[in-house]
Amino acid sequence: MKILVSAAQIQASVESLAAQIQEREGNRPLTVIAIMTGSIVFLADLIRKLEMPLRVGVVQTSSYRGTARGPLAINAGMMPDIAGRDVLLVRQGGAVRALADRCNHRGGPLHRGALEDGCVTCPWHASRFRLEDGSVDRGPATSPQPTYDVRVAGDRIEIRSAASRPA
Ligand code: FES
Repeated sequence: MKILVSAAQIQASVESLAAQIQEREGNRPLTVIAIMTGSIVFLADLIRKLEMPLRVGVVQTSSYRGTARGPLAINAGMMPDIAGRDVLLVRQGGAVRALADRCNHRGGPLHRGALEDGCVTCPWHASRFRLEDGSVDRGPATSPQPTYDVRVAGDRIEIRSAASRPA
């Protein structure tokens, strides 16, 4: 068997990632979501290196029925709720948009950013995210900003993680 990535390389990558997370998040409580089951060993290695308070959730996905590929099914029954998380809410026309408030680039506070042309601009390094779907309009961020499903019920605004949508 040919070894493509050595155990030492994997360990070094886990330590590097943990250091980046620790630097970015400080001691803020962190929710870590594992995609079952392939990421479990990696998750165990990673969370041992993190020092902040952690919540761990898992999402189980599958797209094969026997040998046939089908629609992606997500079982989010073990997802932690998002109570206590910082969320940016913006009324846009007749819709309310919800994005994670901490910029995925380096954690900038999006609630302090400018709103323009259907986008929010991070005040730290000027990444722009589309309010509608969190996609990147301008870097340096390279990943979409997480968004939430929103439902307005009377005078309440209810949000849920997109990952917890029923399959
Ligand atoms: S922290 Fe938002 S662009 Fe860098």
